[in-house]
Amino acid sequence: MKRTRPTGTADLVRLAREARERAHAPFSRFKVGAALRTREGEIVTGCNVENASYGLTMCAERVAVFKAVSEGLREFDAIAVVADSPRLAAPCGPCRQILWEFCGDIAVRLQDLHGRTRTLRMSELLPLPFDRRNL
Ligand code: THU
Repeated sequence: MKRTRPTGTADLVRLAREARERAHAPFSRFKVGAALRTREGEIVTGCNVENASYGLTMCAERVAVFKAVSEGLREFDAIAVVADSPRLAAPCGPCRQILWEFCGDIAVRLQDLHGRTRTLRMSELLPLPFDRRNL
């Protein structure tokens, strides 16, 4: 899903929340939605997609990044992630690596279904990253 009009943080969170409803999570029942924004204001959403072999599961954040990259989008400034968790859910380790490599030091807005919110930067979530500068 790609929107072209400029979108504020509240819209970004709302779109992540809507994406969460489309999660395919019959095994964990833990639904996650993400909405990734380009510097030009386009939005690409993602939800987690599970499967019976478990290990092939794709997180909401990576679905959003890979959808965006496959559409030719490369410059990002923020991602919203919505989940329903006893404590605010932040992206898992593999997603942090992918977000860092494709999006850099973007803002990461976390929210749960009760409205608890926190915004961090990727450099806080992944200090001392390994990336192409190491190669
Ligand atoms: N999940 C995400 O979509 N994003 C994360 O950052 C953490 C975990 C998904 C994967 C799996 O479908 C479910 O949440 C439980 O781990």
